[in-house]
Amino acid sequence: MSRSEIALEVKDLRTTLFMRDGNVDVVRGISFRVKEGETLALVGESGCGKTLTALSVIRLLPDPPARVTQGQVLLAGEDIRHVPEHEMRSLRGDAISMVFQEPLTSLDPVFTIGDQITEAITAHRKVSRQEARTLAAEILREVQIPSPEQRLKDYPHQLSGGMRQRVMIAMALVLDPKVLIADEPTTALDVTIQAQILDLIRAEQERRRLAVLLITHNLAVVSQVADRVAVMYAGEIVEEAPASELFANPRHPYTQGLLSSIPSAAGDRKHLYTIPGRVPDPRALPPACLFAPRCPYAINRCWNEHPGLVATDGHLLRCWNPQPFTALQAVEPGRVDPSVAASE
Ligand SMILES: Nc1ncnc2c1ncn2[C@@H]1O[C@H](COP(=O)(O)OP(=O)(O)O)[C@@H](O)[C@H]1O
Ligand code: SF4
Ligand SMILES: [Mg+2]
Repeated sequence: MSRSEIALEVKDLRTTLFMRDGNVDVVRGISFRVKEGETLALVGESGCGKTLTALSVIRLLPDPPARVTQGQVLLAGEDIRHVPEHEMRSLRGDAISMVFQEPLTSLDPVFTIGDQITEAITAHRKVSRQEARTLAAEILREVQIPSPEQRLKDYPHQLSGGMRQRVMIAMALVLDPKVLIADEPTTALDVTIQAQILDLIRAEQERRRLAVLLITHNLAVVSQVADRVAVMYAGEIVEEAPASELFANPRHPYTQGLLSSIPSAAGDRKHLYTIPGRVPDPRALPPACLFAPRCPYAINRCWNEHPGLVATDGHLLRCWNPQPFTALQAVEPGRVDPSVAASE
């Protein structure tokens, strides 16, 4: 892989919460790469550190309590971890953008859609307000918002949830960044709208050769859009592989559990597997393998020695005792019904 193809690379990233009762690492040395025109999905249950990873990358962590304490974030090969904040502000939007789960919290309720998009443009480009307004209408048209000139005059609450998410995507893309981070972009939406928003992200990615980091707890979403998948558990990546490989041959017991807990479209919804227990509190982690208390295949070593992430034929795995995925039905990418897989 040539370096120029890698739009975003994260190396050994550690994010720590500095709390009154002690410091805890919530992102524990994770690394990944996203190429131009590629979607990497970061998957895991709620609380495993996905959002803090994204906010670490784009440098919007709530500080205090959260700070990046180790590692590098390379944007087109340049480490942005230590660039001054004013420079970072210009990179945000221009080079890397983020779309959040709930567009109502990221849009300002007292300004019109048009004001907010034109503000995003004029903060970065030397253009007149009228030119910015024209660009704003153009980008709304591109994300398939009907009557864009009219919608520019609307306030966020006047739009449906799906339309608001389209506006957020428009704002994220209007300055033509190379990297888009989408954090649970469809989780707050109902199922038909989810599929449309995923289609839109996919279409924009192809048109713009975007590198997309798609964060979701929902494997059905992953199966629709991801090229590669990184599975995150308790602040670590436990498995990473091309999407087709991961769905056909999941090796980590956690991934196998996640896959077994979603029904296929034609599948049997009554006999679904549930991973026992829950994601551990970062303050009280198991001593070695972080998944051991919930793992059906744990052996002594899993309680004594932390497993490293090991690559075999491009498939990364962190596990001492992987078992073939036979007991549970494998799911083919694109064959999962999002309507039944949206819950955690
Ligand atoms: N601002 C914060 N203050 C304290 N703890 C936080 C804060 N944000 C996240 N956490 C904790 O950090 C861990 C990871 O959170 P997060 O990255 O939001 O997970 P995910 O996005 O995977 O659901 C969780 O244990 C969460 O409770
Ligand atoms: S290392 Fe052991 S406990 Fe951890 S996932 Fe693998 S088999 Fe399970
Ligand atoms: Mg989150």
